[in-house]
Amino acid sequence: MNNTPPIEITTTEAAQLSLQHYGFQGQIKKLPGEEDFNFFLKTETGETYTIKISRPNTELQSIQFQSALMNHLAARDIPLDLPSVVLSKSGKEFIPLKNDRYLRIQKWVSGTILSEVKNRDKEILENWGKTCGLLSTHLADFDHPAAHRFYKWDPSQTLYSKKYRAYIQDEETLEIADYFWQLFETDALPYLDALRKSVNYNDAHEHNFLVHHHYKNPQVIGVIDFGDALFTQTINELAIACAYAAMYVPDPLQAITHVVRGYHKVFPLEEKEVAVLFPLIAARLMVTVSSAAWNRHNEPDNPYLLISEKPAWDLLKKIRNIPPSLAHYTFRNACQWEACPLNAVFRKWLAQHPGERRPILRFHDKKLAELDLSVGSSELGHNNNFETIPAFAKKINQLLEEKSAAIGIGGYGETRPFYTTDAYLVNGNSGPQWRTVHLGIDLWSGVGTSIYAPFRGSVHSVQNNDKDRDYGATIILQHNINKTLTFYTLYGHLSLASIEDIEAGMFVEKGQLIATIGRAPENGNWPPHLHFQIMLDLLENRGDFPGVAFPNEAEVWKSICPDPAPLFPLYLKSNPKKSLSEIMESRKKHLGSSLSISYPSPLHIVRGYQQYLYDETGRRYLDTANNVAHVGHQHSAIVEAAQNQISLLNTNTRYLHENIVNFAEELLETFPPELSVVHFVNSGSEANELAMRMIEAYTNQKDMIAIEVGYHGNTGRAIDVSSYKFDGKGGKGAPPHTHLVPIPDTFRGLYRDPKTAGKMYADHVVTAIKKVASAGRIIGGFICESVLSCGGQIVLPKGYLKTAYAHVRAVGGLCVADEVQVGFGRVGEYFWGFELQDVVPDIVTLGKPIGNGHPLAAVVTTQKVATAFANGMEFFNTFGGNPVSCAIGAAVLKTIKKEGLQTKAKETGNYLLNGFKKLQTEFPIIGDVRGHGLFLGIELVNNMETLEPAAEETAFVANCMRERGILMSTDGPFHNVLKIKPPMCFGKAEADFLLAELRVVLGFVV
Ligand SMILES: Cc1ncc(COP(=O)(O)O)c(C=O)c1O
Repeated sequence: MNNTPPIEITTTEAAQLSLQHYGFQGQIKKLPGEEDFNFFLKTETGETYTIKISRPNTELQSIQFQSALMNHLAARDIPLDLPSVVLSKSGKEFIPLKNDRYLRIQKWVSGTILSEVKNRDKEILENWGKTCGLLSTHLADFDHPAAHRFYKWDPSQTLYSKKYRAYIQDEETLEIADYFWQLFETDALPYLDALRKSVNYNDAHEHNFLVHHHYKNPQVIGVIDFGDALFTQTINELAIACAYAAMYVPDPLQAITHVVRGYHKVFPLEEKEVAVLFPLIAARLMVTVSSAAWNRHNEPDNPYLLISEKPAWDLLKKIRNIPPSLAHYTFRNACQWEACPLNAVFRKWLAQHPGERRPILRFHDKKLAELDLSVGSSELGHNNNFETIPAFAKKINQLLEEKSAAIGIGGYGETRPFYTTDAYLVNGNSGPQWRTVHLGIDLWSGVGTSIYAPFRGSVHSVQNNDKDRDYGATIILQHNINKTLTFYTLYGHLSLASIEDIEAGMFVEKGQLIATIGRAPENGNWPPHLHFQIMLDLLENRGDFPGVAFPNEAEVWKSICPDPAPLFPLYLKSNPKKSLSEIMESRKKHLGSSLSISYPSPLHIVRGYQQYLYDETGRRYLDTANNVAHVGHQHSAIVEAAQNQISLLNTNTRYLHENIVNFAEELLETFPPELSVVHFVNSGSEANELAMRMIEAYTNQKDMIAIEVGYHGNTGRAIDVSSYKFDGKGGKGAPPHTHLVPIPDTFRGLYRDPKTAGKMYADHVVTAIKKVASAGRIIGGFICESVLSCGGQIVLPKGYLKTAYAHVRAVGGLCVADEVQVGFGRVGEYFWGFELQDVVPDIVTLGKPIGNGHPLAAVVTTQKVATAFANGMEFFNTFGGNPVSCAIGAAVLKTIKKEGLQTKAKETGNYLLNGFKKLQTEFPIIGDVRGHGLFLGIELVNNMETLEPAAEETAFVANCMRERGILMSTDGPFHNVLKIKPPMCFGKAEADFLLAELRVVLGFVV
């Protein structure tokens, strides 16, 4: 740093100098700069440059060093835009001015500064690291005498910043500062001499990197400001980037992991470099905070000094809680090395010394059986089976009984659903996360079962971890095997009495009885079992150690806590389940390729519960898209109804059965009296297919009027009225007997005045009727959803159906309301969507929610239509109306009533609608917000004047929301509508979470 007071250079002076020495003339703008005085210059011919004028008394050598550095990089083929030296009129790289100042002009590097990228996802972080890797690669063979200098911003010189220690004022921060200086002295300094050294760029923060700014995939394309370059340990290049990349995020270690991975891919790291990375990251932060403390002392009134200091302190506070060895293992894992180096040593020792161990339980002739308690385990089944201790204990006993086993075993590396509730939610860098990956082996055996030490050792620590779902009484043993191997074993869920006399330091012989299995609640509130875990590093813990890990850190934790399976020779692990890629592969091979998959990286969903879905890693997603699981995923009332009936009888409607008539009665009670007959089928498509056959039977006509972009199903007649399909990819346009009318959309459609739109749109029905009449035919029917789903959650304008129905009925046609998406109380104000329009259709088709996921659908109509359809040809449907389906349908209806779900949909829907409207005032990309109850849409546009659909942005938002734990679907003719139609148990808390995350993600799209 130069201590000479700044001597301002005006824009006029800069303009004069550039004209005089370089012949450049044009627009000049002053730029910020700490060392040099910088100006942006755009010449009359459009070329852009940076004019740099140094402070007085600048050392010539440093100017020469920077020129040489830029020339060196310019000669390389580097996929980055870098400032390069522009020669003066006289061919000089720089021009000496008075008082040892120097004038230079460099090529301008354009782009958006990285700090403006709000979505710090793994791609941009990896890119950050890769850019540093490129700099290290290309600077490895460069040197210059002036690079060998002292500079306090060099992380290796962090101890220099100790001279500002006195200016760090409060005790907490001082403790942190001393800790990290100390850490540097013990864990980094002694090893620095042995590391690779090079000229480093030394300033890889987000204000010096330029990105090609596209919200979707920002890439670093340029690097500016080489003024901090110097010769130091090469690893510092990465350490500085990590220090900045980890700011502002809840989980700094995860953010750093991506930067390290990127760097290592381009410039392979050495193990000894990775070993000192954590203290060096902290070292750089220490320079920042201590310099800031000093500056603040000198300029106490300058609020800006605080601004730069705060994120660095925040980060130091967070990483103060990270055991340095855990950071080290995490970085090793990012380099794809075994995270914990002791892992291989341990495994080798274990394999070579079978005589050194004894059984933990005395199995005798007891049969051992593996229990699958993973999140997707059908053995574990319903959430009710594990939510209370008695239910869980019953489940474990039932499994042991079924397997005729005395002891259950398993769980290492298993992802478990037990901790995926709000109580265990931790905010990660991309939304909520849960520790689900189990790091020990569980042995499910009775209370009082004796536990024996498997290895000789001593008691490291003993503790009662007495919180709910914790370990309860716990022992940790330490096993000092030899100079290179010490490891630990943990025994959790013990009886309190059995640990009473145990003290740290006690010697334990292999095979010695150490404790007994405890009962709830002393064991942390679990069915009786032992949690046994091996740890190669205690990470500063005593009496406790994490028994579960976040899925994205599982590899690291599994390396620290190796699989104890070799200690249980009788334990045969079952075949592993198919991985995500194996499922994909098999799907590709065996299923029709016209099946689509959501999201660029598909989800593997293995469990559903209420308004949540869970993937195979136990990650919980809020489901805002699934209007099929109407009363909630895995609802007990529905599960029980299905289980009870299927274990008794399932057959067809040719025998009498109470279920079908009971369900028919209950269903028809929800309709106006005219709609008094029901036919049960298996899918929405089949319902619409049947509706159209009824129309033909009743009217003797085939011609149908349908809505543009409508979807009514995948069968012949249903496709024929589905413009969404026949006008979409692979479609061949409307068949001759289908007549489309415009989508009655008051946001972007033909008519936008809500007062008149209903009638105006309905007039097109008349046009269609006339067109058919001119061909000598008559319209048979009109099909329309009560709120348009595929059309983009379009609420029909007032009076639309009333007028359209009147026109259709005037020529003898029938009107079908497709309620497959919106029925069963979803719209909130009414039970059926058509009631919003104050009409009574002739036929109503039902599907999706009617069976809460079970394939059930129905056609409800008038007696007159049903009678006309019964023309002698039998309507037989093998599965439609079977006792199981009807038991389920009846359970769904009962649950909607019992849980007040229609009212809930109204209240939550209005709350959400207001929230979306508020977001609309913050984000101009939200063009429209609409819907009823829990059937809502948010339409994104790039321009409110032209209504240009923001389709890419919509897909991006849906994808980011998924990354942050919320599943949303998109639709509409331009694919620019976010659809919200969650299970109806979705409440205010979920609405708040959705609104908060949507606000974050919409902030990315600017
Ligand atoms: C409005 C509407 N009608 C009918 C169907 C067809 O139902 P299914 O897929 O059960 O055959 C769908 C399906 O998405 C739909 O959205």
